[in-house]
Amino acid sequence: MAWNFAAGPARLPDAVLARANAELFQRGADGACAIERPFTGPDFRALLEHARQRLSGLLDLPANYKIIFLAGGAMQQFSLLPMNLCAPGQTAAYANAGYWSVRAMQEASKQARTLEFVPPSSGVWDIPADCAYCHITPNETVDGSAYPFIPDTGAIPLAADCTSSFLTAPLAVEKFGFIYASAQKNIGPAGLTVAIIRDDLLERCPADLPAPFSYRRQAEGNSCVNTPPMFAIQMAAMVFDWIAEQGGLSAMAEAGQRKAAIVYGAIDRSDGFYQAPVPLLNRSPVNIRFHLVAPEQTEIFVTEAAAAGLHHLRGHAHFGGIRASLYNAMPEAGAMALASFMTDFARRYG
Ligand SMILES: Cc1ncc(COP(=O)(O)O)c(C=O)c1O
Repeated sequence: MAWNFAAGPARLPDAVLARANAELFQRGADGACAIERPFTGPDFRALLEHARQRLSGLLDLPANYKIIFLAGGAMQQFSLLPMNLCAPGQTAAYANAGYWSVRAMQEASKQARTLEFVPPSSGVWDIPADCAYCHITPNETVDGSAYPFIPDTGAIPLAADCTSSFLTAPLAVEKFGFIYASAQKNIGPAGLTVAIIRDDLLERCPADLPAPFSYRRQAEGNSCVNTPPMFAIQMAAMVFDWIAEQGGLSAMAEAGQRKAAIVYGAIDRSDGFYQAPVPLLNRSPVNIRFHLVAPEQTEIFVTEAAAAGLHHLRGHAHFGGIRASLYNAMPEAGAMALASFMTDFARRYG
């Protein structure tokens, strides 16, 4: 058995891959398969509506929010968010919790004024009243850290890059003004970003923005201002169906907590052979980062793990070490295989 622990593009559910094989690539009477049909036609429109309704159901989406399916990745949103929601000269607040929140702020700084701050540990944040929004990255994929709470930013809309945590647990959408997540962790293949925006914020999008980049135009145009990433959306719809079949987001969260406990348990029981640098309260349930106490053994660990069927465990270049990503599609058996390899490796090299 081989397991893919990559941080993204990441493993998709086996059942979704099988369904895609059966449904997406067979030509119909019109000579076209699902991903070849016009995006303006009834088949794709029905699929888009199904995806939207399924996702709304999973998220228990309040009526005053729109889901939009955008081409490209989360990094595009680093720029599009200030372009859409900041008035000229306005400032946006950025909580610096790690690698991706800094990258988000750096890109936003090219479009608007930004105010960087270290996230306070309490739940109520005092953001200056003239800020357009406050941006957070609830799960830092590279650092392996997560917020233990959603901050209350009062009247300032909260904007969140949920790329690595989206659909891993129930989400209180009503606490946010804008949520975005690129697909390749928990939604489907790369090329798609799902965005959720509160209706009143759509009013802010400047009329002179290029049409495909305007959240308002995309919301009004049913995410079809231009050809949307049809393949990724069709796959996403199947992933949404799969999540619903598994019992929805609470079931994802419960399974995720069990998998994370298995791997963190192997770290914590290793008598310091493995070290998790993130404080307990902030440990990410999906991106588990750790180091070997003897860093020269890291390469041996990665090589032996791959030989044992445990792949893509090398940490992000920014930190080195090891990172195991346990998104929704990783079965508990994968986490158990990793934990037992870790325990055995520590016994042999410790
Ligand atoms: C939290 C977070 N934000 C942004 C990105 C960048 O996403 P993309 O490559 O889709 O632009 C990533 C990628 O791993 C991420 O984990």
